[in-house]
Amino acid sequence: MSASELRYQNGFGNEFASEAVAGALPQGRNSPQRAPHGLYAELLSGTAFTAPRAANRRTWMYRRQPSALSGAYEPYPQPLWTSGAAGGVDSPPDPLRWNPFAIPDAPLDLIDGIRTVAANGDVQAQTGLGALVYTANRSMSKRAFVNADGEMLFVPQQGRLRITTELGRLEVAPGEIALLPRGLAFRVELPDGASRGYVCENYGAQLRLPELGPIGSNGLANARDFQAPVAAHEDASAPTEVIRKVGGRLWRNSQAATPFNVVAWHGNLVPLKYDTARFMTIGTISYDHPDPSIFTVLTSPSDTPGTANCDFVIFPPRWMVAEDTFRPPWYHRNVMSEFMGLVHGQYDAKPEGFKPGGASLHNCMVPHGPDAEAFEKASSAPLAPHKLDNTLAFMFESRWRFVPTAFAMQGGALDAGYASCWNGLQDRFR
Ligand SMILES: [Fe+2]
Repeated sequence: MSASELRYQNGFGNEFASEAVAGALPQGRNSPQRAPHGLYAELLSGTAFTAPRAANRRTWMYRRQPSALSGAYEPYPQPLWTSGAAGGVDSPPDPLRWNPFAIPDAPLDLIDGIRTVAANGDVQAQTGLGALVYTANRSMSKRAFVNADGEMLFVPQQGRLRITTELGRLEVAPGEIALLPRGLAFRVELPDGASRGYVCENYGAQLRLPELGPIGSNGLANARDFQAPVAAHEDASAPTEVIRKVGGRLWRNSQAATPFNVVAWHGNLVPLKYDTARFMTIGTISYDHPDPSIFTVLTSPSDTPGTANCDFVIFPPRWMVAEDTFRPPWYHRNVMSEFMGLVHGQYDAKPEGFKPGGASLHNCMVPHGPDAEAFEKASSAPLAPHKLDNTLAFMFESRWRFVPTAFAMQGGALDAGYASCWNGLQDRFR
């Protein structure tokens, strides 16, 4: 199927249904004695059977062969994809920033090209997240990946991702995001060659739309703008290598049946893509810089209300109109930990030093804010309405402190001079 044949259906959290062949989806029951067209019925449960109805996610698949057909697994070495706080190294409580992560010349697909920059929590305890980058230059070939450790939120920065999943295909360009459920097999092709991007590997509760409170029934990311694929299945012409991540380790096997053999499906546990250009930003129309939580696209709650395992927050193009206000972010320290990336353009608190394809980390109670250049400019700028345009930064914000990895600290991208960006801030007290 070519990109132009890609079809999507809209919504988030709704019941979807799709069939690649007419009549393949059973009607009236989920597991009839004989499923249509000789297909096998298989249930993928993304939440416990007894999760509250509003949070319950599962999908029924009708496939040519069940995914239980599998060979024995053996360890697959991918030492740069570590998991949880335990995969990191001791590091000082400095603010951290990374220059754009280099895309190697050597052939590297997405699975081999993933590097954990920082992570928290514990995959075995299903809590926390990994903040990953991928740098890759070739498509996954006759290879599928299944992540039992968490769902994966892709934020491409350079190059499109053509993602084949068990439920169908998504094509995701920079500026868009893709959310792939835990345990769903997928393969990523890179139609643009050398590619780079970010991934939130969420070990915790599934990402979902935030509550809107007084904002009302519309706004921020609207459910109808999330797109799910339609059913598509492949013939297995050669054995498929399946790489499976479980318990923080990768494993491989070779199997005759392709995982991409689902002919029809229905359910509410689905891969989704979303164009951040659809995000309806909320901001002040009077004064003061509001808390960045107004830019929350998706949230993974923890067991403490309002205190997320992970919030996915974007800083998209928007109008700045606040009166008598220092408009960039304020100086602050946060009990929550903030991992940031930049897809394109400039971020208003760090106009020069924070580069697309790089990252920054301000952990729990690490002071940060506009650099000296941004402070000077914003303190004297005329406060006419102003459009911040051609920009897309994002944040994975977590209640758990991120632990950077050896790759992050010694891999060559660390910006050793980051902390000096505030050195020009003089004592101006009069
Ligand atoms: Fe911050």
